[in-house]
Order: sequence, then C-alpha cells, then structure tokens
Amino acid sequence: MATDDSKTGINTRLAHSGNNPRDYFGFVNPPVVHASTVLYPDAAAMASRNQKYTYGTRGTPTMDALTLAVDALEGSAGTIAVPSGLAAVTIPLLTFVSAGDHLLIVDSIYHPTRNFADTMLKRLGVEVEYYDPRIGAGIARLIKPNTTVVFTESPGSNTYEVQDIPAIAKAAHAAGAIIMMDNTWATPLYFKPLDHGVDISIHAATKYPAGHSDVLLGTVSANEACWKKLYEGFCTLGCCSGPDDVYQVLRGLRTMGVRLEHHQKSALDIARWLEEQPGVAEVLHPALPSHPDHALWKRDFCGSSGVFSIVLNGGGQKQQHAFLDALKIFGLGYSWGGYESLAVPVFLGDRTIAKGSYAGPLIRLQIGLEDVADLKSDILGGLKAAAEA
Ligand SMILES: Cc1ncc(COP(=O)(O)O)c(C=O)c1O
Repeated sequence: MATDDSKTGINTRLAHSGNNPRDYFGFVNPPVVHASTVLYPDAAAMASRNQKYTYGTRGTPTMDALTLAVDALEGSAGTIAVPSGLAAVTIPLLTFVSAGDHLLIVDSIYHPTRNFADTMLKRLGVEVEYYDPRIGAGIARLIKPNTTVVFTESPGSNTYEVQDIPAIAKAAHAAGAIIMMDNTWATPLYFKPLDHGVDISIHAATKYPAGHSDVLLGTVSANEACWKKLYEGFCTLGCCSGPDDVYQVLRGLRTMGVRLEHHQKSALDIARWLEEQPGVAEVLHPALPSHPDHALWKRDFCGSSGVFSIVLNGGGQKQQHAFLDALKIFGLGYSWGGYESLAVPVFLGDRTIAKGSYAGPLIRLQIGLEDVADLKSDILGGLKAAAEA
C-alpha cells in the first residue's frame, strides 16, 4: 500500500489505497490482470501452492488493488470482490449459515435478500425469521440457541429506518451469533460497520463506488475472526468477479468522496424543500430532523447519501404512476448511486412487520449530480401530475 491508512483522512485513502504505483513501473493505476492460469516455478511449488497467486478464482493483483483499498476504508482484515451486490449478500450467508440454523433478518431488507432467504435458504433447511428494524437491544428476545447470524441493513431499503447496530451487535455476540450488515446506503465513508460491532460488512459496489450505472460488483469485508471462513467460502463457490469490472470499481472509488458530497448536499436540499411541498405528506430521509430515527442516525453516521423516499399526500397507484410518468430528467429505473437521477415506485407488500402507516403511495428518489434547480422543477411537474390524476 502506498500510504499508512491508519493515519490518513478518508479522501487520501480513497485516492491512494490499494495498489502501490512503485510495484508497476510507477504507473499510477494498477494493471488489469486477465487470468485463469498462474504458472508455478516447479512441481514442489505446485504441490505446496506456496506462492502469492495460485489460480484466477482465488485472487489477482487487480482484485487485491480493490480489496486492499476497501480494507483501508472498512478497517477490515480482508475483503472479497464478487459479481454483484446481491452476490455480496448471498455468498456470506451461504458461507455462515447451515441447515438447522436460525437466521434473523431485518424486515426492511432489500427485497432480493428476502427472496434468497425465503427460497434457497429455506430449501436448504435454514429457519428464517424477520424482525422490526427498530427492535434495538430487544433483538435478544428473538435470539435462539441455534441463531447463528443476525442480518441488518441500515437505513432500511425504501423506508430508511435506522437500526441500533451497536445494541444489536452486543446482543448477537452475547449469544454467540455474528452480525452482518448491508451498508450500501452509507458506504464506509458515512458509517463504518466494523467500528460499531458488525462482523461482516456488505456493499453493493454497483452503487456509489462504481458510480456510473455501468458496472455490477459487490464487496464483502470481514473482521479478523470471520475473514478466513469468508475467504474459504468465496473460493469454494468460485464467485470471483471479472478484472475489468474490478478495475472500473477501483477507478470509481478514487472519486467517490467528492461525488458522495455532491449527492449528499443535493439530496438534503431537495429533501428539505420537498417537506414544504403541499403534494408531499412525508419525506423519509434519516438526516432530516423530522425522521423518527434522526437521533440514532446523528449518533452513529457521519453523513448521508443521495437516495430517499417521499410519501405522496393521499391517492394510490394512479397518482404514483402519474408522478413518475411526468418526470423528464429523472429516469425510471432500478439501482442507484450513479451520476443520474432516478425514481421508482415503492412496493411494501413483502413486509411482514415494518409495513408503516403512510398517507399515500411512496416513491424512491435517487438524486444524481444534475443541477438541483432542474431536479426540483422536474419533481414539481411530477407533483402537479399526481395532484391532477
Ligand atoms: C441495499 C442494496 N443491497 C444490495 C443491492 C444489490 O446490488 P446489485 O444491484 O449490485 O446486485 C441493492 C441494489 O439495489 C441494494 O439497494
């Protein structure tokens, strides 16, 4: 590594962690190593596998450049890079839960995580139970002798409930379980899971690290206690990612700090303004003082990103669709964290506990890097169309 990460600021780490230019003729960026086969000098080395790289699925210099950079941000013992954010959820779960185990998952979870748990994990004999995102230390009441993993995501997908991660980690650890967290919303810049007791931090690097809506990738970072098992699971499943995607995410990481600051500022400006708009009943953004979990967010997070939801003031799907169809700058598309603004209708029909009680339909907004005045005028068009629907 080019810097001593324990002593430098976050933007210095984003700019310099991972690869050392001196290792490759001084070129600032690392080479993109396309590799399956790695040659060994002799049969003895083959038998012992005693060399840094042994096969393409197990790691390459390109993969190391990214994973070491992520370690510098997460404070982790090791990181794996996998083909999507969803794979960053499924691979650690497959690695750490077994038939007969009890798995606790927050009810405000990203829907495909729920789908994986309810289909494949249940088929494999895992007992899956959902819990209230606001349960805090009360999670202790749900932990059973066979609970091995408590899965968290904070703030929750689409409705942005903030979880009391330190309290949940304390209860999980007291019972011998580990805690995993999908930290995609905050990134390790605005919340460092391992510093708050999390064992495994998950990131859909597709979002802010990649930043341009053109790459799928996930990272999973583990503390010392979980790293060896996570890496073995990764090698066993063969879920490595392609070197070009890995390189693109490392490239994105270098500018993530400045992009995130812009997303944060524009999203907060728009969120505050939306609170004043007559067509909006509620703005679900944890950095707003009106959000029920604002105090918890303020205690644990040091920033907010660019995605949040609004609740329209009454109406149903007709008004929701009218709002979306009127948008000209916001694109209608899934994912977030890219440079462009997006809007999606929120569906909460999969929730079993955190159903909420909302005055109207919900819409999720991803605030991109466009000019705020243009985005506000686009949203006004949406609100007008919803009011007239
Ligand atoms: C919170 C969260 N986790 C994970 C993912 C999955 O990421 P990917 O799209 O790279 O599979 C998403 C995608 O929207 C997400 O919102």
